[in-house]
Amino acid sequence: MNSYVPSPNRYELTKYRRCGQSGIQLPLISLGLWHNFGGVDTLENARRLLFAAFDLGITHFDLANNYGPPYGSAEQTFGAILATDLRPYRDELIISTKAGYDMWPGPYGDGGSRKYLVASLDQSLKRMGLEYVDIFYSHRPDPDTPLEETMMVLDHVVRQGKALYAGISNYDAEKTDRAVSILRELGTPCLIHQAKYSMFERWVERGLLDVLRTTGTGCIAFSPLAQGLLTDRYLKGIPGDSRAAKAYSALKTAEITREKLTKVTALNAIAERRNQTLAQMALVWLLRRPEVTSVLIGASKVEQIHNCAAALSRADFEGEELEQIERILGHD
Ligand SMILES: NC(=O)c1ccc[n+]([C@@H]2O[C@H](COP(=O)([O-])OP(=O)(O)OC[C@H]3O[C@@H](n4cnc5c(N)ncnc54)[C@H](OP(=O)(O)O)[C@@H]3O)[C@@H](O)[C@H]2O)c1
Repeated sequence: MNSYVPSPNRYELTKYRRCGQSGIQLPLISLGLWHNFGGVDTLENARRLLFAAFDLGITHFDLANNYGPPYGSAEQTFGAILATDLRPYRDELIISTKAGYDMWPGPYGDGGSRKYLVASLDQSLKRMGLEYVDIFYSHRPDPDTPLEETMMVLDHVVRQGKALYAGISNYDAEKTDRAVSILRELGTPCLIHQAKYSMFERWVERGLLDVLRTTGTGCIAFSPLAQGLLTDRYLKGIPGDSRAAKAYSALKTAEITREKLTKVTALNAIAERRNQTLAQMALVWLLRRPEVTSVLIGASKVEQIHNCAAALSRADFEGEELEQIERILGHD
């Protein structure tokens, strides 16, 4: 048994925003366990990251069945830390997991079928030592499974009490609209959509945010720092301890192009004039949109979580700054 005691003033340190038209509020900054919590990483650092986040009032931790590597290991890590330290705070946490991508061999370990999603959620609960998750997501739309089938699973697991809320991720605007109405008809509203959204990835602005606003569905923006590109991390080359330097990571060095770095350098100059880091500016730039409930960051170091959380103290933008940012991003 460990002896973690969370900071007593944690709820004064961040802000919360209502998730769509639901009863749930999420912290403006949430923490994802996609990288840095796997079997390849150290349990000690994972503990430090989770405690640093919770000490700042970050109550939402996001997982998926296949986070690791190896698959499942981020949920195991989280389960281990929950068992030793976080269990007394279970009711203060929003824990999410997902299924939808490749997880185990054969036709029932991938996609959006009832067979896969039900089995996967049971496995996730076992790995984390939980009776229920707060949000269960369909991780992606499966073109080969009827949308009705996938939505019925979300409704089913909520009725079973294995998840409190239903979510979808990576669904385009049209499919989101349909999914939200199917879920509403079934009696389990769609709490939230988890979408890739950053200064470098703006597809959600072309229809999805409108659907989420009009249907009262929340939005959590994943990879808001473009996996670390929208920070000062790569301004002077590729650091040895960075995501891009890791063989098993999702950020390939080929993605760190000269064109992107030119934009990052120009954005960094604006951030400096605002007396904040580029990471901080990239986060509050997303949070200025009322449709965005929370930004879902990743972190390899405690200082990154501290830095991101401090972004909220300088969240306003002047019109001129926004125009400059658009010009740099090439949307003018
Ligand atoms: N639904 C989906 O399909 C999907 C897909 C992807 C991700 N997600 C979710 O989104 C979460 C976040 O994704 P992500 O990790 O790509 O997010 P991200 O916030 O865009 O990138 C995180 C990386 O940025 C760097 N970083 C963070 N804060 C920093 C700071 N203040 N200064 C400098 N560098 C900083 C770190 O890089 P280094 O590691 O190099 O230090 C960190 O690992 C995931 O954990 C997962 O929960 C969901």
